[in-house]
Amino acid sequence: MYHSRISGLGHYVPDNIVTNDDLSKLMDTNDAWIQERTGIQERRHVVKGQDTTTTMGVKAAQVAIDRAGISKDDIDFIVFATLSPDYYFPGPGVLVQRDLGLSRTIGALDVRNQCSGFIYALSVADQFIKTGMYKNILVIGSEVHSTGLDMTTRGRSVSVIFGDGAGAAVLTREEDTTKGILSTHLHSEGQHAEELSLIAPGMGKRWVTDIIADADPNDESYYPYMNGQFVFKNAVQRFSEVIVEGLKANDLQVSDIDMLIPHQANLRISQFIQQKFQLSDNQVYNNIMKYGNTTAASVPIALTEAWEQGKIKEGDTVVLAAFGSGFTWGSAIIKW
Ligand SMILES: CC(C)(COP(=O)(O)OP(=O)(O)OC[C@H]1O[C@@H](n2cnc3c(N)ncnc32)[C@H](O)[C@@H]1OP(=O)(O)O)[C@@H](O)C(=O)NCCC(=O)NCCS
Repeated sequence: MYHSRISGLGHYVPDNIVTNDDLSKLMDTNDAWIQERTGIQERRHVVKGQDTTTTMGVKAAQVAIDRAGISKDDIDFIVFATLSPDYYFPGPGVLVQRDLGLSRTIGALDVRNQCSGFIYALSVADQFIKTGMYKNILVIGSEVHSTGLDMTTRGRSVSVIFGDGAGAAVLTREEDTTKGILSTHLHSEGQHAEELSLIAPGMGKRWVTDIIADADPNDESYYPYMNGQFVFKNAVQRFSEVIVEGLKANDLQVSDIDMLIPHQANLRISQFIQQKFQLSDNQVYNNIMKYGNTTAASVPIALTEAWEQGKIKEGDTVVLAAFGSGFTWGSAIIKW
């Protein structure tokens, strides 16, 4: 068995900065409320015609590929995590295969695990590399939320939180099995599926034909719904559990963590975890202040920034953890 290591990281966010004050012109909200409850100061929104989930993913991927020092045609497989694909189908994995101009007809897989999507995608890629099937895998997390949010007061408890962006990693075969991804831990609890969800359009409860026939401007089923306090309570519990599970599996202690990259759901959740584990500010990376919650993109964007800022060095123990819609949650323990 091999290990896999992250050989290249990249991220891309749209130029368009949307501040809390900008949102307060669209809905009844204010900077103080948003910062106090979430820590968010601003987020990025795509500009129509400029960026999509796929194009942002491709831009992040190009950086990651260059930094990995490989040619794009060395990539053996693509795993793309998103809840906001360009098309209902096909998923964005194949669009990346096309838009990167890959000469080989490599496989492309789409992962739909929302906020924990990148960790699920990383875990899938890790298994393919471990078994020797593939050598280099491109893993992308990218989201466009802004075009699907209710930007009126009705949707304010959700709309102020989410932002757009993309992050990518190249996973490469590592012969030294003391290095790279040591383990990944994935969980779900489907009984809470509707607590953080977007119901329509779907082939279950809100058929496309019903939506067209109803043409109801008050239909909220196309907007994300979130039971905020319930999500918060579950998040702090599951984040803690899955971090401890990952550490235990590798005989590590909380004190061994050099860098924790939590999914950027809410700064208050990250701070709760940091306090619970008594980690210093240098051991936890947060950037939700600048980008909001970018769902599947949040972990790879934060990981890329932490690495770019020299906060992750060779030999460090890096922990990734995420929780979100599904509910799904997961962690990855990495020896850098
Ligand atoms: C969403 C969240 C910030 C809301 O904070 P909260 O303290 O639970 O706030 P509530 O929803 O109870 O709302 C409190 C009040 O603020 C109001 N409010 C909601 N959104 C608001 C906004 N953007 N601006 C101003 N007021 C707002 C509510 O209407 C409510 O008013 P009321 O008391 O008059 O009814 C918080 O629940 C949260 O962060 N949950 C986790 C979200 C998360 O992590 N999601 C992603 C998971 S991956």
